[in-house]
Amino acid sequence: MKVVLAEFVAAAAEPSQYLVGTLPEVAFVGRSNVGKSSLINTLVRRKSLARTSQTPGCTRNILFFNINNKFHLVDLPGYGFAKAPLSERRKWGPMVETYLKERETLRLVIFILDVRRDPSVDDLNLINWFCFYNISFVFVLTKIDKISKSQVSVRKRRIRELISMTQEPEMIPFSAKTGEGKEQIWKAIKDILT
Ligand code: GTP
Ligand code: MG
Repeated sequence: MKVVLAEFVAAAAEPSQYLVGTLPEVAFVGRSNVGKSSLINTLVRRKSLARTSQTPGCTRNILFFNINNKFHLVDLPGYGFAKAPLSERRKWGPMVETYLKERETLRLVIFILDVRRDPSVDDLNLINWFCFYNISFVFVLTKIDKISKSQVSVRKRRIRELISMTQEPEMIPFSAKTGEGKEQIWKAIKDILT
C-alpha cells in the first residue's frame, strides 16, 4: 500500500466525538504496551504518528488517522494494565466496547498479541466477544524480533492451541523494529477494503 497521506484527525472518548463520515475503518486492539501504536507507525512509515511509550497506558483515547482520504486507522487504548488508575480502567470498557459494537464503518480489527506471552483472560474474552458480534479480525503476533525464528513457530502453535477457534484464524508474525510482516498486514487490510 502506498501511503501518500497519513494524518491524525481526531481523539475521542465517546461516540459524539467520533469522526463523522463514511470512510471504512480498521482498528487496532490489544493489551496495554503490546505495540498497537508502534504497528500503526510501521504501517504508515512514520516514526511517531501515533504516540508510543515504554510505559503501559500510553494511548488513552480513541485516535483516528486518515490514510489517503480512503480509510481510517483507529488506535485504541490498551487493556489489562493493572497499575492504571481505577478511573482509567473503568473507562476502558465502555469507551472501547462502545466503539467496537456500534461503529458501523468498522470493517476489520487487527488483534495484537505479544508473541512471547500466552493470551490473557481479557484477550480470550475479547476474542469470544468479536466472534459473538461477528466482527472480522486477524491476529498479529508482534515483537518477533525479541525471539528466534524457531521460537516464533513454537509460540505460534501454542497461541493457536490456547485460542482454539473452530476456524483456523490468520496469524501474522510481525516486528515493528524490522518491519517483518508489514506487507501481510497491508494485504489483510486491502482485502477487506476492496
Ligand atoms: P498502549 O497505548 O499503552 O496501550 O500501548 P501500545 O499497545 O500502543 O504499545 P506501544 O506501541 O506504545 O509500544 C509499547 C512498547 O513496546 C514501546 O517501548 C515500543 O517501542 C515497544 N515495541 C512495540 N512493538 C515492538 C516490536 O515489534 N519489537 C520491539 N522490540 N519492541 C516493540
Ligand atoms: Mg498505544
